[in-house]
Amino acid sequence: MRFSSNTAAFLAAVLPLALAQTSTDCNPLEKTCPKDTGLNEGTLITDFTKGESKSWSTAAYTTINYDDQGANFVISKTGQAPTIQTDFYIFFGRVDIKMKCATGAGIVSSIVLESDDLDEIDFEFVTTWPSPVETNYFGKGNTTAYDRAIYYPASNPDTTFHTYSVDWTSERINWLVDGTVVRTLNYGDANGGKDFPQTPMRLKMGNWAAGAASEPEGTVEWAGGHVNWAEAPFTMVVASVDITNANPADSYEYSDETGSWQSIKVIKDGSNADPSGSVPASVTASANSTNTVGPTSSISVTAVMPTGAAVTTTSQGASYSMNNASVSAQNPSGSMTSSVVATTEVPGSNPTSSASSSSTKSNGASSLSVMVGGSLLSIALGALLI
Ligand SMILES: *[C@@H]1O[C@H](CO)[C@@H](O)[C@H](O)[C@H]1NC(C)=O
Ligand SMILES: *[C@@H]1O[C@H](CO)[C@@H](O)[C@H](O)[C@H]1NC(C)=O
Ligand SMILES: *[C@@H]1O[C@H](CO)[C@@H](O)[C@H](O)[C@H]1NC(C)=O
Repeated sequence: MRFSSNTAAFLAAVLPLALAQTSTDCNPLEKTCPKDTGLNEGTLITDFTKGESKSWSTAAYTTINYDDQGANFVISKTGQAPTIQTDFYIFFGRVDIKMKCATGAGIVSSIVLESDDLDEIDFEFVTTWPSPVETNYFGKGNTTAYDRAIYYPASNPDTTFHTYSVDWTSERINWLVDGTVVRTLNYGDANGGKDFPQTPMRLKMGNWAAGAASEPEGTVEWAGGHVNWAEAPFTMVVASVDITNANPADSYEYSDETGSWQSIKVIKDGSNADPSGSVPASVTASANSTNTVGPTSSISVTAVMPTGAAVTTTSQGASYSMNNASVSAQNPSGSMTSSVVATTEVPGSNPTSSASSSSTKSNGASSLSVMVGGSLLSIALGALLI
């Protein structure tokens, strides 16, 4: 979403972005910026009907309510703008969001993929528009023209769950509604490719009162008029989000200031897994095996069964600590079936410290990922477990 700069300033004020690391923090087209954390898996499925997910962050001063419908983004009074975003970036891929938008004049529900250099791919929803589903994009923060939005109809998007998808490659972007492509943007059609969104992006979702009294008239008009607060609350509900990352990685780095996709370095294999640099890129474990992941540390995987797995982490020596190890399980197709199934903490300063995890629960787990000190090491289990 991109409104007038006044609106952007207002949103920035509402969201002091403990979330961010937003684009405004560091634009890689102007200077060297920290690397972007990548989604290190091909697929991540978030089922918000099961509650909060650890792969997402909620914006400061905002609240998301979870129930059996999913994540509820509720605006009940002026100034509220409940927003969440992924903790990671993807570099081409696809997102599928099953959701109901909020209804009411001046209320804008949004799905935004956004990069550090202000490439952006959007879905926005205003139910007072005749065609309530807006698709839009921006390249490198170029807002000289606001002529790229295209609007589509949808049946009862506020009361019926629909799936809105963005399918994004280096050649084209497809926007889909319930699996049907409604819009395609080819690379060359975006200012000769220059303004084609092509750098690693985070996914943000939010609900905004863009028609609040404090907003500039143009923004209010765009948002379908002034908010009628007597109709509050205004609720957007997201049931689930499926994310596919075409280039799974630990991190992404802009190697120059062009903002071209060719300039993005994809950094893999836990190269930043250990501050001391002594952890191998990745380890491969078979069931009931022990694997050394640092000079004096090990992860042993035991009792891997269709219904669960147990992981023991052991750390020895003052120079290296495994710290926290959390385990997530994946089914054979690669989608996550459960996460944070076991956690251990090993104090690093104790030469002989060790700790054991609890059991996991994972249906048909075929692989485990072990998070060590915040970085991901992949453990591929030898056996396919169904
Ligand atoms: C910004 O976009 C416009 C078209 O909307 C284009 O004419 C212009 O060249 C772009 N600016 C830059 C710096 O690429
Ligand atoms: C691993 O150990 C568990 C019990 O600790 C056992 O039930 C299972 O069969 C073992 N798996 C393999 C592949 O040896
Ligand atoms: C391990 O996790 C606990 C609980 O989340 C946290 O308090 C602690 O700081 C973590 N330790 C490290 C070394 O990350």
